[in-house]
Amino acid sequence: MAKLTAKTADVYTLYENSVQDPETEVRFLKRVYKKKYNKRPTSLREDFCGTGALACEWVKDSKKNSAMGVDLDPAPLKWGTEHHVASLGKSADRVRLVEADVLKPRDEKFDIVSANNFSYFCFKERDVLLSYFKTVLGSLNKTGFFYLDIYGGPEAQVPQLEEWEYDDYSYVWDQDYFDPVSGDYLCYIHFKFPDGSKIKKAFTYDWRLWNLMEVKDLLIEAGFSSTKVFWEGTDKDGDGNGVFRPVKKGDGAIAWLAYLVATP
Ligand SMILES: C[S@@+](CC[C@H](N)C(=O)[O-])C[C@H]1O[C@@H](n2cnc3c(N)ncnc32)[C@H](O)[C@@H]1O
Repeated sequence: MAKLTAKTADVYTLYENSVQDPETEVRFLKRVYKKKYNKRPTSLREDFCGTGALACEWVKDSKKNSAMGVDLDPAPLKWGTEHHVASLGKSADRVRLVEADVLKPRDEKFDIVSANNFSYFCFKERDVLLSYFKTVLGSLNKTGFFYLDIYGGPEAQVPQLEEWEYDDYSYVWDQDYFDPVSGDYLCYIHFKFPDGSKIKKAFTYDWRLWNLMEVKDLLIEAGFSSTKVFWEGTDKDGDGNGVFRPVKKGDGAIAWLAYLVATP
């Protein structure tokens, strides 16, 4: 088979393969919801959905499930429609990928609203993030929750390149710039290929690096009644083991990724 190059690669395929794991997320969401409400969740809205990978996996998981994905950018929505939605066959009518701003309130309510891969970091102003959280709260059923992720630790603030090698390409996470005064945080994803070709700045993230306590406080200020932090456990070498459990205290990891679940 011909080796992948910058010319032949599809950036959405590479992105999904490198940073997303919708099957694991669906399992996590079902487990957390069942524990909290002792029933199965059926409706999900994936905010900042990009290609709608989670929304489509949700619909695939059960005939009772339905999902909406919301994103401003028509390009990943089109890709997701052609790839994920199309492959759902008859179940495709249970998912809608909508081009819209997540800040705009919608009437429909959901069991779960998700905001993944730190996408809400694009809201740099406190008032804007607060208004987004209020909008999410207004979109949740009484027995519902908001699911979002966050990362941090001292290493998150350090300009650096981290590279992960896959079979036919490398994924590079580029923390280009962090300003401790404003919290401004500029990151990129680049891809490199065996023939030496590159896709530089395949994705650009102009963010504010929010910290966990700020986000928890803002969720409560927005009207959520409680927040839970799910922290990753460690294996015998002290490395992350991929198992996230609710905690009251974290640990001194120099870089961490955690999940937050906020209930109405
Ligand atoms: C980091 S990507 C997330 C892609 C995917 N959901 C994931 O989990 O990896 C961020 C996405 O948020 C979208 N986005 C940014 N601001 C938005 C807004 N105000 N409303 C809707 N989507 C927005 C961008 O178009 C982009 O597709």
